[in-house]
Amino acid sequence: MINHMDRVKMIEFKDMGDERGQLIVVEGARDIPFEIKRTFYIYGSDATVVRGKHANRRTEFVLINVAGSSKVKVLDGAGNETIFCLNRPNTGIYLPNMVWKEMYDFSPDSVLLVLASEHYDAAEYIRDYDEYVKEISSFSDESNN
Ligand code: TYD
Repeated sequence: MINHMDRVKMIEFKDMGDERGQLIVVEGARDIPFEIKRTFYIYGSDATVVRGKHANRRTEFVLINVAGSSKVKVLDGAGNETIFCLNRPNTGIYLPNMVWKEMYDFSPDSVLLVLASEHYDAAEYIRDYDEYVKEISSFSDESNN
């Protein structure tokens, strides 16, 4: 069975900072495992908000809190759950396709930058947790055969 949780990892980016300030570099397919096709950023969320609550059939993501902090809860549909804190501009979390993710506990100054491997396609988002568990189970069954 493919363990999707094992593929989730924190990545530390190169810091080219000097006495003028910090400069962090993230190159597609070099510093992260995919070419970047889309980027978006989330701000103005707060500690009462839970975002995400979906899995993506195809898209891989890297999330970076370029300012402030937030948390990401990752579920693999097989009972494993891990919580990551994003609180450094030079660190991101890599999320492969087919993990369930929830972003929450945003600090007031949080700016969450998201890099994605695919263009936006609503049809590849699974927004129902039971449907996700169903799909991940058949996915795993297929890879066992
Ligand atoms: P949503 O998926 O709810 O955001 P989050 O994952 O942070 O909870 O997206 C909010 C709205 O924005 C929804 O109508 C879909 C739209 N959207 C796009 O059009 N393109 C995108 O790349 C993203 C991420 C969202």
